Order: sequence, then structure tokens, then C-alpha cells
Amino acid sequence: MPDSTHRTNNNLQAYWMPFTANRQFKEAPRMLVGAKGMYYTTDEGKKVLDGCAGMWCVNAGHGREQITEAIRFQAGQMDYATAFQMSHPLAFELSSRLANQLPSTLDHVFLANSGSEAVDTALKIALAYHRARGEGNRTRFIGRERGYHGVGFGGTAVGGIVNNRKQFGNMLGGVDHLPHTHNLEKNSFSRGQPLWGNELANSLENLVALHDASTIAAVIVEPMAGSTGVLIPPVGYLDRLREICTRHGILLIFDEVITGFGRTGASFGAERFNVQPDLMTMAKGLTNGAVPMSAVGINNLIYDALMEGPPEIIELFHGYTYSGHPLACAAALAALEIYENERLFDRCAELELYWEDAVHSLRDRKNVIDIRNIGLVAGIELLPRDGAPAARGYDCFIQCFREGLLLRQTGDTVALAPPLIIEKEEIDRTVEILGNVINSLD
Ligand SMILES: Cc1ncc(COP(=O)(O)O)c(C=O)c1O
Repeated sequence: MPDSTHRTNNNLQAYWMPFTANRQFKEAPRMLVGAKGMYYTTDEGKKVLDGCAGMWCVNAGHGREQITEAIRFQAGQMDYATAFQMSHPLAFELSSRLANQLPSTLDHVFLANSGSEAVDTALKIALAYHRARGEGNRTRFIGRERGYHGVGFGGTAVGGIVNNRKQFGNMLGGVDHLPHTHNLEKNSFSRGQPLWGNELANSLENLVALHDASTIAAVIVEPMAGSTGVLIPPVGYLDRLREICTRHGILLIFDEVITGFGRTGASFGAERFNVQPDLMTMAKGLTNGAVPMSAVGINNLIYDALMEGPPEIIELFHGYTYSGHPLACAAALAALEIYENERLFDRCAELELYWEDAVHSLRDRKNVIDIRNIGLVAGIELLPRDGAPAARGYDCFIQCFREGLLLRQTGDTVALAPPLIIEKEEIDRTVEILGNVINSLD
């Protein structure tokens, strides 16, 4: 049986690692071989506190027996079920369960395998919806600067992170972007939602004036931008986007791949910020990271608009071989049960103030220029070194790992988003390691 617990002595060259400086990594590999609760184990036998829930996905902590058992059982029962013109009960059970948990208008669920696929699915559904209603001219998407929506051509096009875009040509045509909401001058060291910035949503009116509403299919934003370094929406910003979209018949898509499943102290960002999207993407925490799976929540209006015509026609020519994969469904159902039984989303909300105080205690450390937080998320932004953007952030990430803390780094911001089972002592330990490392960096 393949065994990932032994030290690596194999050739590292074959595997082209994603979003990684391959040559640098292969000179000094960092290998994880085990995970339980709040901790990873490295191939050197060292315990590392997981400060970022894997990659924002292991919300219930690692190695949950209930999820493992559900996957094991399902693998023995039926490994795979044909996904087109056939199905299996767990896909329906999961979708119903999920629809119950989603904001009240989102009653339907389309299943996919990754956040990127969920985003491309949502974009396609938006186009198909407008076309079905005789508004096929609405083909334009509006994303946001510094947005991250995965790596499909659709998601890359609506995304707003320059390094993710510049190698890949023109991508999807007819896309425009809102300005991002990050402003150190106005909002640095805000606790929770910043007070300044809701007027940035008015830029959508400018884009409508420029392109005309009749050409715009949808606006897509992360309620809280995670991958770009934790940008919390200013108070009133998402409400204003919602209002402008509604007024112009533009769909609002929330990409909740990170904010879903308790991360902000509510089921979804939509609930935390009290704004209803028309479509919602989710992934990561859906299965607690145990099996790849993603989903799109879809409102009734959109679903109904496409359920027209003769019943034998396929309403949406879109789907994946692994849509609703039985092992992923089993894992997701088990994960949702854990979230509910352990009230992990409430737990996140209850810990938020403690977390906030803990991370903001780093305010006076060397080179810290901003700290942002919400739920169990924090972004700590460091001053870039002259002529070497991202170098200090990278050093912080590496040094923290050596000291026993895994976090995410993007540019000179480090992000924390621990499993929602974290204990107060582990919050203290996280901040202690990070604070010491920040002080030690030149
Ligand atoms: C908001 C958002 N959308 C989409 C994605 C892409 O997800 P995946 O890597 O599963 O394709 C991510 C990944 O971090 C994300 O944060």
C-alpha cells in the first residue's frame, strides 16, 4: 500500500508543484506526512501547528474519524456512480442538506470538484440564465481587483491578481473589474469590518454607465477576499453592491470558497454580512478538505428560468465526470454533521474577540503595517523590503514553519485561518510564534 509516512528519498523532479517556486522548494523540501487535530507531522517527526486549516479547508481539524469512516464505508459500498443521466442517492441527500443550510433563496445545488470549477460553473449558469430569458446580450462579467476565483480561464479572467493573469493572454473577453477595497491610509488596524470604503461599490455604477447594464451578466466577488491577503468588506459595501446589481438586473455571485462553512463565524459570508447573493460558490470546508468537492448554490429564479421547454431536453450542457462523486458526498455529509453537532460555526463566533485581541497584540511588532481580522481569520501585513516585495513575507512563512507554525503567505501579508476547533492556548501559541518570528526578521 502507498505509504506517505516515511521520509522522502525519491526523485523530486517529476512532480511540477502548483503555485510553488519548484526549484527553490526542491533544494530544501518541506514535507508533511501526518495530520491530527490541530497539528501536522513533518517527515522529520516534528509537530507543526496548523494556523491555516490546511489551505482554509480543514475547518473541523484533521483526521476526523467520522469523515474517514464515511469515506471508507462508501468506497466499499460503491466507488463511483455515473454522473450524467444516472446518479446515486447521496448526491441528492447532500444537495438537500446543503440547500437547507444556504441562504433562504438558494434552493438548488450543482456539484463539482474544486473551487475553480464551481466558479466557472457559476459564470456559465449566469450566462445561460440571461439567455433563457431572452437577454443573451448579457455576457460581460465584473470581477474585482485582487479577487481570487481559482485558475480556470473564467475564474482567472474575473480574478484580479496580476501574477495569476499575466502569463495567460487575454482569457475570457468582456471582463471588467471593480477597484479593490484595501486602503492602509483609511483602514489600517481596523478590527472586524473597516468603517471606510462602502462608496467603493459605487464604481459598479461607473462600469454600468460605461458598458450598459444590458451587456452585464454578473458581478462576482468574495465576501471577504482571502487569497489576496485577507481584505474584509467595509461596512455597507456588500449591501451597496447588492442594491446596484438588483437595480440593473445583474446577478450577484458570492465566491464563498473560503468564507463558507463557518470561517467568519456564520455558515456563510452571506449570513455574516447579511447580504443575499443570487449564486454562491463553495468548496474547501464542504468536505473538511478530505476529498475534493465543490458546489454552486443557485436561487429559484435562475433554476426555474432554465427548467423550461420539453422535459426531455438537457437544461444545462455542463458537468463533470466527478460531479457528486460518492466518496466526496459521503465526506461532505459527515463534515456537515460534525459542524452541526459540535456547533463549530458558533464556536468560531464565540472565539472571535479573543482571536481579535490576540492578533492585534502584534500591532507594535517590527515592520507590521496592518492587521485585519474577522471570524477566525487574520491578515498581518508587513512592510515590504526595499526592492524586494514579498521577501519579508516569505521569510516569515519559512521561519514560522521552522518554529512549528504553518501559515499562508501572499506577498508581504501572512494569513491565519486555523481550524475552528482551535483552543485559546493554541491561539496564544500561534501569536507567540508569529510575534517572535516577526521581531527576528530583518
Ligand atoms: C475564493 C476562492 N475561489 C476559488 C478558489 C479556487 O479553489 P480551488 O483551488 O479548489 O480550485 C479559491 C482557492 O483558494 C478561493 O479562495
